[in-house]
Amino acid sequence: MSNSNRRVECGFCNCVNRSSMLFFVVVTVVMMGGVKAKGGGSSRNEECELFTGTWVEDESYPLYETATCPFIEREFRCETNGRPDLIYTHYRWQPLACNLLRFDGQDFLERMRGKSIMFVGDSLSRNQWQSLTCLLHSAVPNSNYTLARVGDVSIFTFTEYEVKVMLDRNVYLVDVVKEDIGRVLKLDSIEGSKLWNGIDMLIFNTWHWWSRRGPTQPWDYIQVGSQVMKDMDRMKAFEKALKTWAAWVDANIDPAKVQVFFQGISPSHYNGSLWNEPSAKSCIREKTPVAGSTYPGGLPPAVDVLKSVLSTIKKPVTLLDITTLSLLRKDGHPSIYGLFGAKGMDCSHWCLSGVPDTWNEILYNIII
Ligand SMILES: *[C@@H]1O[C@H](CO)[C@@H](O)[C@H](O)[C@H]1NC(C)=O
Ligand SMILES: *[C@@H]1O[C@H](CO)[C@@H](O)[C@H](O)[C@H]1NC(C)=O
Repeated sequence: MSNSNRRVECGFCNCVNRSSMLFFVVVTVVMMGGVKAKGGGSSRNEECELFTGTWVEDESYPLYETATCPFIEREFRCETNGRPDLIYTHYRWQPLACNLLRFDGQDFLERMRGKSIMFVGDSLSRNQWQSLTCLLHSAVPNSNYTLARVGDVSIFTFTEYEVKVMLDRNVYLVDVVKEDIGRVLKLDSIEGSKLWNGIDMLIFNTWHWWSRRGPTQPWDYIQVGSQVMKDMDRMKAFEKALKTWAAWVDANIDPAKVQVFFQGISPSHYNGSLWNEPSAKSCIREKTPVAGSTYPGGLPPAVDVLKSVLSTIKKPVTLLDITTLSLLRKDGHPSIYGLFGAKGMDCSHWCLSGVPDTWNEILYNIII
């Protein structure tokens, strides 16, 4: 693998890791003992806009120490990889008009008892999935769990609670099919959805792979209806795929049984002009968030496309609108403390503990 000064793109690490993994791995951790006491928290205003706010320093954060979560993968394990500054772990998201309830892992597990949660998407989904398993495990450190991988699905089970927290790696949501001409990205085919049946909570995401070109682009042709092309406008392709997914939601989701979320566009930080620091070419040495509630560089255009497609869905789908709050966190990425160490520059994924814990804390506030 040639990786000198590789700019780590989202999802790349995912395929590297997977190809070197066994097809099926089961780890069972057996422990005995009690569980942690429930944490408290202040109440929130039901009408509150959760995604507008600022980051405030709070020494009672992070929600878990990295050391208490033994299964964080190397690409997100910044502290263990040598990141010296840890201020970035001590921030809490403060909505402008209300307070978030602090994440309570034991309460989350009780509410989800007997149920399954599945993240579907690229390595940003993996980032949030790992965060949630860490948040839950650190809340009940003596409770047994199993971690299994079957094909593209990773399954973390809290056995005592019969709660499954799963990850289906599916970077486009629509299908890539091997045919005689090569690998075809089919914008109106969504057979991968078979894995989503019977899950109680689904959290989708796709974006970062749509701009991919060159050797790591995992398809040779793109198909819409019967038309097969070498390429097309990528934003239009993204939109078509989202519409296919939206039609799947409308045709298949029973809102009485299934809660559907979309993890919003997770932003990268490779251009300091966007946060008023033009000399910065990446997120390295960024130690604090952007102050205030707005990001100077504005929102990535994909956000509008996503919101417009979501607005056409008839079934309830909740957007975890994490883009702005994450844009403010130029300090939250692994930079040289990720998968490739000093040979890499990862300003796309997020350190754990870190920003995705807030995505999950907000998710918790939505479901309680
Ligand atoms: C954990 O698993 C072991 C062995 O299966 C079992 O004896 C023990 O009771 C379990 N602990 C909890 C808290 O469920
Ligand atoms: C960084 O952002 C600025 C402001 O939008 C833009 O003019 C510039 O071309 C960008 N630089 C790179 C390398 O993308």
